[in-house]
Amino acid sequence: MAVRIGVLGAGQMGRTHAEVLSRDPRASVVAVADADAERAARLASALGARAVGDLEGLVACGIDLLVVATPNRFHAEAAARALERGVAVLCEKPMATSLKEARALFEAASRPGAFFVVGHNRRHAPVYRRVRALLDGGFRPLLANLKMHEGDYRTPSWVADPAVSGGFLYENLVHFFDLLEWLIGPVAEVSCLARGPFYADLNDFVVSFAFEGGAIAALTATGHASWLHPAEKTELVGDHAAIVVEGLDRVIHSPGDEAAVAIEDFARLSREERWGYRDQAAEILAAYLSGAKPCFSPARALRTLEIAEAIAAAAREGRSLKLGPPPSD
Ligand SMILES: NC(=O)c1ccc[n+]([C@@H]2O[C@H](COP(=O)([O-])OP(=O)(O)OC[C@H]3O[C@@H](n4cnc5c(N)ncnc54)[C@H](O)[C@@H]3O)[C@@H](O)[C@H]2O)c1
Repeated sequence: MAVRIGVLGAGQMGRTHAEVLSRDPRASVVAVADADAERAARLASALGARAVGDLEGLVACGIDLLVVATPNRFHAEAAARALERGVAVLCEKPMATSLKEARALFEAASRPGAFFVVGHNRRHAPVYRRVRALLDGGFRPLLANLKMHEGDYRTPSWVADPAVSGGFLYENLVHFFDLLEWLIGPVAEVSCLARGPFYADLNDFVVSFAFEGGAIAALTATGHASWLHPAEKTELVGDHAAIVVEGLDRVIHSPGDEAAVAIEDFARLSREERWGYRDQAAEILAAYLSGAKPCFSPARALRTLEIAEAIAAAAREGRSLKLGPPPSD
């Protein structure tokens, strides 16, 4: 029987998850809830699902898995309530808007039988899968340069309110905190300059990272660039070799010396495929159905927020800060 899915939050990401899941024969989106009843009704009717009022209404529909795609402030409570009722959870990032809440949710998500996964979709994106394969093939990053130039931190309107989003580090940069440890290794130390033009919240960041093992990285991020492509870029530099990732579209690999540069283009894939949403959903369903651990552990989700908090403290205190070791998985 298909996994019965409930979707909480019928905005951009709730719709994306619902559409991707509803195309997978192993899943059936049975109910949708949103604070805005009209939005819930629109998405539910497009998918042949029921529109209900809230999380309780979704649980009452007998769902197996809840997708949490509300603004960030509501993630932790919704996810914890679903887990309490034995419902599996796919929660959009970040898992919470404070470390305290994230730790409480981590405890609930780590109990035997709980299934909880945060949507760190870039791990499933073809560009980063390709980079991971190059690393597994022997490329050793010694230096990295990352940028995330989020063109408009005003859309949707709640993101620029740190009380709702948790702030720019939680809303935008958690993706890169996960990628950095996945691609390079444990972060050992961070320092940061941060400024706050245009919004209530800090939204210009220059962060430097030192990794266990000796690699170093720089990250610049802003909430007021234009959407000039590529708004995201990751460059890894090895031993006279380099990998460049442009947006989620292209991987350029220079193996060094006289070897030819290889360019792999993923730009023609659908958005769901390119951004990893399709494969993320497929892996989550496979794990849920087989009783395996989800593809992304609760400890990893908590770690992204520990890195965010260390960076915020480094900016406040004007000094570099060391981090403890990451989770072992
Ligand atoms: N992984 C990614 O690539 C990615 C991309 C964009 C957004 N996100 C995340 O997805 C989540 C949703 O973002 P979005 O862009 O879809 O936002 P959105 O504003 O488009 O949608 C949010 C929806 O939640 C509803 N809502 C608000 N409060 C609610 C509540 N208490 N209960 C139920 N519904 C409520 C709103 O009415 C709205 O329909 C956020 O956590 C965001 O960080 C992830």
